Amino acid sequence: MKFNYSNVLNELIGENGLSIKEIKNSKTFLEKIKENIEEKIDADYYALKLPFLMKQETSEIKETAKLVQDNFENFVVVGMGGSSLGNELLHFAINGIHYNDSPLRKTPRIYFMDNVDPASVKTLLNSLDLNRTVFNIITKSGSTAETMQNLLCITDALNKRHLPLNKHLIFITDPEKGFLRKLAKEFSVKTFVIPPLVGGRYSVLSNVGLLSGAVEGVDIDALLNGAAEQAEKIKEKDVLEDATMLLPFIQYKLFKEKGVNINALFTYSDGLSYLGMWYRQLLAESCGKRFTGITPLAVKGSTDQHSILQLFIEGPFDKLIIFIAPVRYKDDFNIDGNLADDEHINYLKHKNASQLIRSEFLATQAALNKSKRPFVSIEIPEIDEVSLGKLIYFFEYEVIALGEMLNINPINQPGVELGKQYTYGIMGREGFSEKKDEFTAFIKANKKYIIEE
Ligand code: PA5
Repeated sequence: MKFNYSNVLNELIGENGLSIKEIKNSKTFLEKIKENIEEKIDADYYALKLPFLMKQETSEIKETAKLVQDNFENFVVVGMGGSSLGNELLHFAINGIHYNDSPLRKTPRIYFMDNVDPASVKTLLNSLDLNRTVFNIITKSGSTAETMQNLLCITDALNKRHLPLNKHLIFITDPEKGFLRKLAKEFSVKTFVIPPLVGGRYSVLSNVGLLSGAVEGVDIDALLNGAAEQAEKIKEKDVLEDATMLLPFIQYKLFKEKGVNINALFTYSDGLSYLGMWYRQLLAESCGKRFTGITPLAVKGSTDQHSILQLFIEGPFDKLIIFIAPVRYKDDFNIDGNLADDEHINYLKHKNASQLIRSEFLATQAALNKSKRPFVSIEIPEIDEVSLGKLIYFFEYEVIALGEMLNINPINQPGVELGKQYTYGIMGREGFSEKKDEFTAFIKANKKYIIEE
């Protein structure tokens, strides 16, 4: 992994940049942050131990994945937020956006039920051969309303076809607590555990991400090895030589001192675009608390150069761009391009297809540099399991470090919980009538300011 932070320094972007001197002077501060993280690794930051713990725990996942591969055609991941985004990240990065339709596909098709829009739920359930489908229900709390409703829709559909629930469902949830755990016992459903100390958005390297990954042929050993390698590197490295500490420090300094309160993860590959969505949750839910926080954006290169880039280059000075790209693109090929002899296309001929996206990646950086906007870039050799494992661990660690710098607890999400409780109240869940009253008190609007057209 190559991390380049030249373009946040005042040497390159002028007075709005950071000075290398202030970065060097922060060594003690960064060491203290690292120490704080180390001290909490057996409790709050337990997720950082997952690569090592899970390496010993993959045999049951692999056995179940093999059973699914041998007997089913479709695997549907059902979960919300952290109980789905990591799975999507692995799926799109390793197998690509057209995997389900690929003639080269050797493992079950993968689908995600990560919302409760009736049309999408109905279309998916009606289009799958349920006899050949496994639904992987993932919920740490065991009760998230969307996941519960999707579970009901699925079990209704399975029951209608007289299909045994324990053959078509696999659960991932808390080892003891929660309604899903209770259901697992009642219906004898195969169930994997989410460690109680691991929160949703930090769970991709647990059973949560590993099972669906293994089902679709992701090399989960290599993924965990990559993550473990990154963890070892962090342990050994000097904080001033470690991107895992420098990135959050840059985010922190630019936020606190230069008003840079938006961070955009600009991923130059379709496969990495879900990394952007996963990171968006990780950063927002971890560090957006107590009237502080940085707003994350997930931006896809080169596609979004034609939508949002104008704002990045000439809009307000409030954004840090974090570029990510592979050096080698998967399935690269040479373009004959024998359509016509014309200057509009001649420059694209006889080149590898990856040369254009690579050039766009560099061109955008030069344009940002010309307008003196801060950015960092991360390059990985290619999008494979080892690199992804490293990236996942890198981002989890750096967001925790950023939380420490901001003096925020990066592992809770009280705001999300409140929204969940109001939903229970509105929907009439037993025990939540107080939340319904609270909801009614806060949902008020003044008719004067509502326009009906
Ligand atoms: O990161 C988080 O904690 C959240 O995004 C949760 O993953 C999400 O709300 C789903 O919760 P649960 O897994 O309890 O269904």
